[in-house]
This record gives sequence, C-alpha cells and structure tokens, in this order.
Amino acid sequence: PITYRGIFEDNEAKCLEHLEYVFAKEGDIGAFLAETIRNTDVQIPSKKFWKVARALCDQYGVLLILDEIPIALGRTGKLFAFEHYDIEPDVLCLGKGLGGGIIPQAAIVTRDEYNRFGDVSLGHYTHEKSPLGSIAGLTTFEIIAEENILEKVRKDEAYMCSALSDLQKKHECIGDIRGLGLLWGIELVKDRKTKEKAILDAENVMYDCLKNGLSFKVSAGNVLQLAPALTIERENLQHALDIVDNSLGKIFKN
Ligand SMILES: Cc1ncc(COP(=O)(O)O)c(C=O)c1O
Repeated sequence: PITYRGIFEDNEAKCLEHLEYVFAKEGDIGAFLAETIRNTDVQIPSKKFWKVARALCDQYGVLLILDEIPIALGRTGKLFAFEHYDIEPDVLCLGKGLGGGIIPQAAIVTRDEYNRFGDVSLGHYTHEKSPLGSIAGLTTFEIIAEENILEKVRKDEAYMCSALSDLQKKHECIGDIRGLGLLWGIELVKDRKTKEKAILDAENVMYDCLKNGLSFKVSAGNVLQLAPALTIERENLQHALDIVDNSLGKIFKN
C-alpha cells in the first residue's frame, strides 16, 4: 500500500479492508501476487500489514505469491524481504541478482506440497534448469554468506537513513524518504503540504546526476530510487549522495 498519498494515505488498514472485501466478494481467488516491498518507488508495508494479509490469504484459501525478483538476496538487509515480516509466502519469485549479476537466472521457489509435477510431462522450455545458471545462483548464496553482505548492508542502511534525513532537512523539495537496506526512495514534491509531485524537476535532477556520473531510476514520476550495488564502498556511497545533494540544490534553487 502507498501510504504517503492517494486513497490509502496514512491509512494502511483501509488497504487490508479492500483486500478482504475482494477475497470475500469473489470467493474463488486462487492467488494474491505482490511485491513484499515495492521496489520501484520504495513502498514499505508495516509488519502488521503482511501479518494480516497472510492471515487473510489463509482464511480465504488464497495462495500468497511474493515477487522478490529485485529485492531478495540482501537488497533489504535480509536474504529475503519477507523475513522482515515473520511470514512465509507459498510461492516466491527470484531473479535478477540470482545469477550473481553475470548469468541470467530466475527461479520459482514453492512449498514442497506444490512441487507436484516432477513425474508429469507438462512440456518443457529450452532454457529451463540451466546447470550454469544454477551454479551461479548457489554461488551467489555462498558469497553473500562468506562476505557477510547482509551485515554490511545493514550498516549501510543506518548510514543512508541518517544521510538522507539530513538531506531532507536541507532540501524543502524532499517530501518523503523511505527505505531499508540499500533500497531508498526520495520523493520530490513542489510543496510538502499539498505533496504535489515535482515530476519535471525529478527528471532534471536525474539527468544532472547522470551528467555527474550517477545513474538511477525515477519512479512514479517523482521518486528517485537509489539502489546501489550491495558491495559499494562507503566512500562511493557518500560520493553518490553528494551528487544528489548538489543536483537538488541546483535544480530547485528557485
Ligand atoms: C518486481 C519485479 N518483478 C519482475 C520483474 C521482471 O523480471 P524479469 O525481467 O526477470 O522477468 C521486475 C523487473 O524487471 C520487477 O521489478
């Protein structure tokens, strides 16, 4: 749920009401598919949200499918984002970093009870079950453990939280900052009270940062999404934040 603006503004519970309303009204929903934490414009549900949503899925016989393709494997400071919520999905989608950033690899992980078709011929895909991709995936897990990546990301989280809070104090155009681990969103607004999106300015900030060597995406029109490599060194992280700081000062000077 987006709780900064829109129909669920400051009211996450209303989103759960909607979810239950749809489950009850339709009666035969097979699965609820969602991102545990929204990657693009960085929306982070509360612990209560996922506890209740999980319970609703159980109550209405709906499978919970969590898409963690961009955020699993340490991005949020945990191996899997659902670990922040003390819940488990029935099906989990993995991809992107699963191949260690080198080999294209995705995976679907399910509870064993749903792994039913091992001895049934359902047709096949040319590139499924790639041995090279599988080794890349397993090696990625090993390296995350061996190099203490999760601990490093959690330290970076504290650093980013403090640095971005300082930026928000300095720049009136920052309406909201949201994030955890090494996944952060900076929401740019024309006015903190009306929360009107600063869409054109956000794009200008992005291109100015790019000119200075920093690449990121703008999501939902006005959210700068910062998601550096999990191995980024502190010095480079600070350098990136300085580039954002300078661009904000330049673009919003009037
Ligand atoms: C949440 C989410 N799911 C799925 C995808 C697509 O993954 P793939 O390109 O591996 O199909 C993306 C991004 O590309 C994504 O952000």
